Amino acid sequence: MEEIRMIEEIGKMKKEKDAVIIAHNYMIPQVQDLADFTGDSLELSRKAAAAKEKIILFCGVLFMAETAKILSPTKKVLIPRKDAGCPLADCISVKQVEEYRKKYPDALIIGYVNTNADVKSMLDICVTSANAVDIVKKAPGNRIVFLPDANLGAWVKKHVPEKEIIIHKGGCNVHQRFTKKDVLDARQAHPDAKILAHPEASMEVLELADFVASTSAMIKYVKESRDKKFVIGTEEGHIHRLKKERPDAEFFSLGSAKICPNMKKTRVKDVYEALLHEQYEVKLSDEVMKKALVPIEKMISM
Ligand code: 13P
Ligand code: SF4
Repeated sequence: MEEIRMIEEIGKMKKEKDAVIIAHNYMIPQVQDLADFTGDSLELSRKAAAAKEKIILFCGVLFMAETAKILSPTKKVLIPRKDAGCPLADCISVKQVEEYRKKYPDALIIGYVNTNADVKSMLDICVTSANAVDIVKKAPGNRIVFLPDANLGAWVKKHVPEKEIIIHKGGCNVHQRFTKKDVLDARQAHPDAKILAHPEASMEVLELADFVASTSAMIKYVKESRDKKFVIGTEEGHIHRLKKERPDAEFFSLGSAKICPNMKKTRVKDVYEALLHEQYEVKLSDEVMKKALVPIEKMISM
């Protein structure tokens, strides 16, 4: 079937089956464009929690769809590609969290939303890149284990020097590829542009950027800015979303385009098949859902 027909069918099935489609800012443009909402991982989970529809079709990676399920346990949450994982989330295991608990019994364990549900169920507080600095500052106690992203952890540590922060050595192999040279070259090529970088990039990149932010904070910054040129240091798909927000502005990649292969797995055909066959349903045990909700709710309340 041609893509245009599939998009029509998706629209019909959405109504018949009472479904809502939400897509992360890194999805391919065709998937972003057919979604009812696009956003960052937390915004989408909140949309999912507030949705009235019976089915939530989550176009993103697995930990995001799991977070949506944890926040809306009575809904049917579908992910079109069950092989769309996040290598960053996969670099911390339940066993490693248990080891941190044993080694640092007096520390709070604070984890990035990019964690799988079983790990999330063991955290004290969950954070996103948008609120990590704030939450670590406000968290009780002076000793924190931060996981799994070492770059985000280092960024937090720089902004909360008064606390001891033990950082897990994980990383996102997409954002780790931005280099200091990418920033220096971008400054030369576009001297009148603002350079925005995601905190999963390395400190030498972040220290040279004009603004360090999550994908949602980048959108806000670009919408409110009077500048006309922006260099974007995050996954390439985000530029599509930013262009929609500021059609009058020019956007450039920071160095070569950095692509997250897992975010690019979901095609229109996968969305069509996911709705048609109601696949692949995110299933989590009641115990994991109940426990994983605690650190997420703590984050929301803070
Ligand atoms: P956001 O939290 O900004 O949605 O980013 C998620 C992510 O996977 C970053 O690489
Ligand atoms: Fe995970 Fe990095 Fe891809 Fe985000 S960009 S989903 S952190 S691998």
